[in-house]
Parts: sequence; C-alpha cells; structure tokens
Amino acid sequence: MNKINELERPDQILLEEMVRPLLIWYQKNKRDLPWRRDKDPYHIWVSEIMLQQTRVEAVKPYYARFLKTLPTICDLADAPEDMLLKLWEGLGYYNRIRNMQKAAQQVMADYDGAFPETFEEVLSLTGIGNYTAGAICSISFEIRKPAVDGNVLRVISRLLEQDEDIMKQSVRKKMEEALEKVIPQGEAGDFNQALIELGAIVCVPNGLPLCDACPVCQICRARAHGTQMQLPVKKKAKARKIEERTVLIFKDGETIAIKKRPAKGLLAGLYEYPNVEGHLLEKEVVEYSKTLGLSSLRVRKLESAKHIFSHIEWHMIGYEIRVDELEKNCSEKMIFAKKQELEDIYPLPSAFEAYKKYRLE
Ligand code: ADE
Repeated sequence: MNKINELERPDQILLEEMVRPLLIWYQKNKRDLPWRRDKDPYHIWVSEIMLQQTRVEAVKPYYARFLKTLPTICDLADAPEDMLLKLWEGLGYYNRIRNMQKAAQQVMADYDGAFPETFEEVLSLTGIGNYTAGAICSISFEIRKPAVDGNVLRVISRLLEQDEDIMKQSVRKKMEEALEKVIPQGEAGDFNQALIELGAIVCVPNGLPLCDACPVCQICRARAHGTQMQLPVKKKAKARKIEERTVLIFKDGETIAIKKRPAKGLLAGLYEYPNVEGHLLEKEVVEYSKTLGLSSLRVRKLESAKHIFSHIEWHMIGYEIRVDELEKNCSEKMIFAKKQELEDIYPLPSAFEAYKKYRLE
C-alpha cells in the first residue's frame, strides 16, 4: 500500500501530530511572564483581558499596578469607577473593565468570592466569552477547553492551510471543536499557551514567519506550499467613520478644564478636554470661549493628532487658551483640575495623548 502523502493527512491527524512537538518547544522557549508565575484564576483573568487589548510588554506595568491596587476579587468588586478607569487608562475598550467589575460582583454574590471552577460557570460571568473562559479554565484548572485568539487562528490556519475568513464565527467555532479533541489531559493550560506563544514569537502576523524555528514546520501545509504570507484570510473591516474635532486646553495659572463624558457611548464615563466638532479657526475659538464666559488672554495653535477607535477616527486639531481665573469665569459645568489631580485621579483616554503634555508647566 502506498504511504499517504504526509501533507494529505486529515486535519485532525495533523492536529494530533502537532501536540507533542509543540509542548516540548514551549517548555524550552516560553517567556517568563508575570502572569505565568502562578495559576490564580483572578490573576489569569486580569492578564487575559489586558492581553486582548495590547502587546505583552505594554501589559506588564498595567498588570503589576492593577494587582497591587486591587489584590483580590473583593477589592475589584468594591472599587470606585474612577479608580478602575484610572487603572485602565490608556488600554482602551473601557467597557471591559466595567464588565470585569460586574463579574467580580457576581463572584462575590454567587460564589462567596471564590472564583468558580467549571467552564460553564466561568463562561456565564459578564464579559467572559469562549476565549477568556477557555484560557482561565485551562491555565488555572487544567480543564480541557481551547482558547482560540488571533494567534491561534493564524497558527492553525497555516498549519492546516485553511483559507476561510477567520473573522467568521463559524470558522472559529470549527477550530475550537477540532482543537478541543486533541488537548492532552493535564496539560491543557500549557497546550493553549504554547499555541498562543508560537503565534506570538514564531508564526508571527507581520512579515515572514520564522519557520526555521518552528517545532511543527515539518507538518505545516502552508510552509510546504509557500502560502504562509497569504494566510490567514481576514476580510477587511468596514472603513471607519472620520470625525474632525477641535480640542481646547483652557488653562489659567493653576488649573486646566476637563469634563466628564456621558455615561453611555464612546469613552463613557471618562474625562476629556473640552472639544467641539469640526476644525475651528483661531477666531472661532475665541468666539466659542466667550460663549463659555471665558475671555482669552492668549490663544496658541497646537499640533494636529489622530486617534483610531475600532469604528471611528478622530482627526483633531488643538488650541491652548490662556484665561484668567477659570473656575470663577466659566459658565459651563466643568472640572478645574490641578496638574497632580490630572495625573492621579482623572482618567483621560489615550485619544488625548498628544495634548496631555500641555497640562505640564
Ligand atoms: N496572549 C494572550 N494570552 C497570553 C498569555 N497567556 N501569554 C502570552 N501572551 C498571551
């Protein structure tokens, strides 16, 4: 009987063949990361939510500060909203931290503060979907559930030379089902993290993957056919809506004006520099300031800046407006914050990053 061509083996066999070399590679090559030093589900949960938003290196200081400030689920459940948003400042997707607090409150109410230990219970917590539940349950409790994130979608799409759109829920679901069958008993956490790690440091998203360093390059269909760079297939998202805004830094000698954003919608509940729609000319800024009861002593044009949200882009210009006695003269309800208060208390999203330096003087 002819030996079947190695790369024509069914997907499921290929996945099974991947397991051992992948785990051996992981033991040798895994990075020493703060959230890999224990298996406390609260710690894993915090790290996984943060890692969904930004790079490993950027997460490290956020992770350390978060757990120092809120060392237990009980602390998270009871934290004031501004403290949470300040701890999350710069990470984006602020609803995620609000959802984490709701989930922490559920854990306090329904499980007496002890993190639940079944997949279904973990999945039922606010803001925890299949990926996060799979990551927590596999890493903390060795439950054999997959954790399919963007890294894993890329690695498996290449290994199997799967060319369906990875943005489709059905594609992710199929991958979860196929992976669940090969997760080894007692090594679920390492298996999931190994796949993520391979995607992060070898089977990388931008530029050529480092196939020579890959433990499964011998069985990878994309590698055999040279299709690594075409995979995974990811359909382009809809173009973002562009909004022009003018950011206004009103300051007197002591304070800067900021406002709290509405409780619903984009950047809900965070703080912002006053800003208006459109790109205002200097004389329009002076006029607008007057409507707030503020007569400008000096107006200075600042640089332009762009901030990209998931569905919107802000194209901003800015002005610094020097006024006399902000608090006394301003007719609109605002907060007049001192430099230290801006740093310690009020969460200002990264959208305003370019203008944060003007608070310093
Ligand atoms: N990205 C998502 N989860 C991760 C983890 N546990 N370690 C490193 N990178 C990750």
